[in-house]
Amino acid sequence: MPAETQPSEELVLAFLAEAGDEYVSGEAISDKLGLTRAAVWKHVESLRAHGYRIDALPARGYRLVEVPDRLTPLELRPLLNTHDLGQELHWYEELGSTNDRAKELAEEGAEHGEVVIAEAQTAGRGRRGRSWVSPPRKNLYFSVVLRPELPPARAPELTLVASVALCDALRLAGVEAGIKWPNDLLASGRKIAGVLTELAAEPDRVHWAVLGAGVNVNARREDFPEELRDEATSVLIERGQPAPRALLAAACFTALEDWLDRHAEEGFAPIREAWRARTVTLGREVVVKADGREIAGTAEDIDETGALLVRGPAGLERILAGDVKLVRPPPGR
Ligand code: BTN
Repeated sequence: MPAETQPSEELVLAFLAEAGDEYVSGEAISDKLGLTRAAVWKHVESLRAHGYRIDALPARGYRLVEVPDRLTPLELRPLLNTHDLGQELHWYEELGSTNDRAKELAEEGAEHGEVVIAEAQTAGRGRRGRSWVSPPRKNLYFSVVLRPELPPARAPELTLVASVALCDALRLAGVEAGIKWPNDLLASGRKIAGVLTELAAEPDRVHWAVLGAGVNVNARREDFPEELRDEATSVLIERGQPAPRALLAAACFTALEDWLDRHAEEGFAPIREAWRARTVTLGREVVVKADGREIAGTAEDIDETGALLVRGPAGLERILAGDVKLVRPPPGR
């Protein structure tokens, strides 16, 4: 079920959050928000019931001590400074796949920027039919509905936009992430996040696109199945300490919106530059699996459509979709 939230409860929470470690009096809150003292007290009680720890001292008022590690609109909305992205937030304790739910919502008319987010997925999907490990309350699993003004041939650009944005959000969280073509986020040579883009299009325009992102945040090595333990990593593993998921989600939404706006206004050129500046693929020896073939060579560049250019034995090959393996793992592995 989506979370039920009350706007004035969110306002009380935002007020307390802004005060940081300071106490704020019930009177100050009620004056500022135009609520009765009894209503403020009711909202504080309700927030406590949602897992917030709020101290109360008769002479000084209320102080926010701890926020629950959850991603409902109550936690996320006060952290968002986006104009569209995540302003309409569909939260679920558990879903099969956030992409599937976002596709349903898109078909029902969801607007640009609506986000589906889940604490757990039972059938999380990756690219090329792989599954995406999605244990409860450890990581981020979200999907964004987009209504881009784009011809379908340019839709793959959106995936690169998303990988640049996730890379920036991870770097802000203190993780030295890099992008492996087309949209795998690596840290210490291991996968930390991925993007799955799905769309419905008419011949000349994209009807909707769903950008699904999975970011490994607080998963420990043992949370991954044995066969992935050498391939996958998380913010916790990289930094040695857990990260607040809500803050990271808000950073992802902000970065995504900034880069999507830039893409809409200026086209693919600035995205291509940003992607090149963050990639761990270019200049490396790679083996690419594409169209049932294996191409070994040097990854030279991406072209003005985002396709990978690999110089192999048969000359320069242009790869539109495929799986890239770096022959020598990047440093840190
Ligand atoms: C990949 O690297 O293969 C892409 C992984 C994408 C995983 C995310 S988690 C949220 C969204 N829902 C899904 O079922 N998949 C994407």
